[in-house]
Amino acid sequence: MDLSLTGRTALITGGSLGLGRAMAEAFHGAGARVAVLARREGPLGEAVDAIAAAGAPDGAAVRGYVCDVTDAARVEAVHAQIEADLGPVDILVNNAGHAAAKPFESITDAEWQADLDLKLFAAIRLTRAVWQGMRERRWGRVINLLNVYAKTPGPNTAPTSVSRAAGMALTKVLAGEGAPDNVLVNALLIGFIKSDQIRRQYEASDGSVDFDTFVARAGARLPMGRMGEAEEVANLALFLASDAGSYVTGCAINMDGGLSKVP
Ligand SMILES: NC(=O)c1ccc[n+]([C@@H]2O[C@H](COP(=O)([O-])OP(=O)(O)OC[C@H]3O[C@@H](n4cnc5c(N)ncnc54)[C@H](OP(=O)(O)O)[C@@H]3O)[C@@H](O)[C@H]2O)c1
Repeated sequence: MDLSLTGRTALITGGSLGLGRAMAEAFHGAGARVAVLARREGPLGEAVDAIAAAGAPDGAAVRGYVCDVTDAARVEAVHAQIEADLGPVDILVNNAGHAAAKPFESITDAEWQADLDLKLFAAIRLTRAVWQGMRERRWGRVINLLNVYAKTPGPNTAPTSVSRAAGMALTKVLAGEGAPDNVLVNALLIGFIKSDQIRRQYEASDGSVDFDTFVARAGARLPMGRMGEAEEVANLALFLASDAGSYVTGCAINMDGGLSKVP
């Protein structure tokens, strides 16, 4: 099975921590030139240094770009810089996001807008930036990180359920438009995966147990009896990004250890 990404350029939003970082490591390890985007310079620099230190086939580059993906002008400028530095983007991973779920009546217009800006419009703008080039070169991959609520929204899961369902619809629309030109678009519906997001949830908890116990207790409530690892997400993303995933498009894949009630 050919999982090599040698000669490809990948752009990963939110690639400094958690799932994004694991995907950046995996893609670079498979030979891709990798552009990592995040807002904070500290974690971004740390991630890029560690990824570079691990090395890559053919010495592929990895670069960090400070960018808030909700800032349309900055996204445009950073995309142009990435193309100048690393070449046209072949693989886009729309991953930047955060947990946001409250009772409906407590969500303000500003919170709705902020969630849609981060989880939907950022993906729309970045995809638009790379789309035509991918189609012209007749090779492209777009992977959208969503969550299980995209298919199974429940009470108190807005605004994120709504933004993620829109992301799933966008995935399907784009898959149809990109298929004739070999541009494949898929979504990963995440359940509970160990990441910095989970660490922040721990830090907001009562602190009565240590982090490992917190993770183990939350994991015990899941069908597989544990939370997923970021590397397990990266393995699936690498498959989809590579030539091994050449006939998979328009899918919203549950990456949740069996949590979702629907396939
Ligand atoms: N982990 C889970 O169990 C889980 C569950 C469901 C869905 N997800 C989704 O999976 C994705 C990755 O989650 P994660 O757990 O790896 O999160 P994480 O550990 O909190 O990492 C989030 C990454 O996104 C970056 N980021 C956040 N807002 C950004 C913005 N406006 N512009 C650019 N970068 C931004 C962060 O860096 P800066 O803060 O420096 O910008 C960081 O690199 C997210 O979309 C999340 O909603 C995760």
